[in-house]
Amino acid sequence: MAGYLVDDTRKVTTHRLIEMKRQGKKIAMLTAYDYTMAQIVDGAGVDAVLIGDSASNVMAGNVTTLPMTLDQMIYHATSVVRGVKRALVVCDMPFGSYQVNATEGVSNAIRIMKESGCDALKLEGGVEIIDTVKTILAAGIPIMGHLGLTPQSINKFGTYAVRAREEAEANKLIEDAHALEEAGCFGLVLEKIPAGLAARVASELTIPVIGIGAGGGVDGQVLVVDDMLGMSKGFSPKFLRRYADLHTVMTDAIGQYVNDVKSQDFPNTDEQY
Ligand code: KIV
Repeated sequence: MAGYLVDDTRKVTTHRLIEMKRQGKKIAMLTAYDYTMAQIVDGAGVDAVLIGDSASNVMAGNVTTLPMTLDQMIYHATSVVRGVKRALVVCDMPFGSYQVNATEGVSNAIRIMKESGCDALKLEGGVEIIDTVKTILAAGIPIMGHLGLTPQSINKFGTYAVRAREEAEANKLIEDAHALEEAGCFGLVLEKIPAGLAARVASELTIPVIGIGAGGGVDGQVLVVDDMLGMSKGFSPKFLRRYADLHTVMTDAIGQYVNDVKSQDFPNTDEQY
């Protein structure tokens, strides 16, 4: 395995991530939705791969994450699991699969774990879903929380603006974070909140806090892989660092292929039987 700055090639577990926080080692997490991308991100050394319900936007072209179904998440997760050797594989529970009640939540959680073979699940929300979180944890399924900008609640928020700038919302987020840790979650994603607040949460919790648009004072970072590779155009939040311009690279390559087919340069005599 290639792996940049990876000093331990054993399969990553939830316990290892907690240990990494204890040792002050930063955690690198990226999304993946298919087998090929999963192989690439795992081979490059990420510690955790997230099958995000952002697949709804990135893979399916929806405006929000809400249309994603349980079957679609299981399809993406199954493909990713086949491509990953080392990283911890975390799958989002999609909107509607855990909000109704704890019984429905745990049976959907079990379906994802059983059918996809992923290692853990991620749920959006705090104290309002704590009974469901506890019931899923009691079934032996590790859970990562997700607070701050929780895209499944976009219709309630009405905007993708930074969350928890006001004291009341910040206090509720801190309370939610502690409730998730006390319930037994192994980690927490904080999305698009002020860096100072995220750093405070990370310092108060013993479980790793992974940020996206939450500054550098947390225990690790997660990005949507298509965004950081520059495959998508027109999505440029302040927190996003683009590590490549694959949109241009791919468009140029495909354009060259089109030219070669039309000019009869491709295939040549070496490229036929
Ligand atoms: O769905 C997703 O990709 C996520 C990350 C942005 C954290 O939840």
